[in-house]
Amino acid sequence: MTSSQTIERTNFDLGSEEFNTIAQLLYRESGINLGPGKDSLVKSRLSKRLRSLGLSEFSEYLDHLKADRSGQEVRMFVESLTTHKTSFFREAAHFEFLRREVLPKWISEKTKVRIWCAGCSSGEEPYSLAMMLREDYPGLDRNKVQILATDISSEIISKSREGRYSMDAVRDVPPALLKKYFRPIDADGVRRYEVTNPIRDLVAFARMNLMSQWPIKGLLQVIFCRNVMIYFDKRTQRALVERFVDLLDTGGYLFIGHSESLTGVTEDLRYVQPAAYQKC
Ligand SMILES: C[S@@+](CC[C@H](N)C(=O)[O-])C[C@H]1O[C@@H](n2cnc3c(N)ncnc32)[C@H](O)[C@@H]1O
Repeated sequence: MTSSQTIERTNFDLGSEEFNTIAQLLYRESGINLGPGKDSLVKSRLSKRLRSLGLSEFSEYLDHLKADRSGQEVRMFVESLTTHKTSFFREAAHFEFLRREVLPKWISEKTKVRIWCAGCSSGEEPYSLAMMLREDYPGLDRNKVQILATDISSEIISKSREGRYSMDAVRDVPPALLKKYFRPIDADGVRRYEVTNPIRDLVAFARMNLMSQWPIKGLLQVIFCRNVMIYFDKRTQRALVERFVDLLDTGGYLFIGHSESLTGVTEDLRYVQPAAYQKC
């Protein structure tokens, strides 16, 4: 096959052994468990990577991954296979619960309230938290509340830091908040919305793999790990939740996605409301 034919290819053949090797590598690197039937997803996501490297077979790509001493290609591989679906004020009941039941107590009792969005994707979740906090406590600064927002994907962390969103992405932001906390930017006939400093100032972004060491010192009052563990198996979920429990302050909360459950995962957290758990 000529290189121009390679560039034009839209998909590549993926054998079951190659799929298994890819699934094992992804599991080892990120905890993501690719169940059966995910081969077409793998093919479509990684084909782009093969094309940009000028490769014509998955076997060549696997050799390229094996030869990667810098870890750069493995990162790109994981980035290609992660799902970043998110939105502002997603699963709004959690924000309401925090605003009503949790924050008033923590803000008055604690010197500093620390919130972690683990698996924050493109930033909509931590920025939603920051807007909610700013609305209720306008004088807050980073000495009082800090939102740490992390994700395995460097690309998505750069996007989060940039904080620019399409009109479609801000559709769930209430108009008053959109007006107050975003700056419209028009370029090439396209309008985008940029998060402004009073919101940015409360959030610190970092690339962090949940499967690795976490450089987090001290206790946290709230952990959001929503729609992330859904991609992990029970064993990985158990190990991760155990680490979350160790980091949580007594009375602190862990929020997971509404389609997820901690049944059979931990007994150290008390169920409070759908997808919300408290350390007792
Ligand atoms: C579907 S998004 C969820 C975003 C947000 N929490 C929400 O609920 O809207 C899942 C995010 O988890 C991240 N992720 C997956 N595995 C991870 C890992 N091992 N460490 C850190 N982040 C991970 C993905 O990159 C992705 O951005």
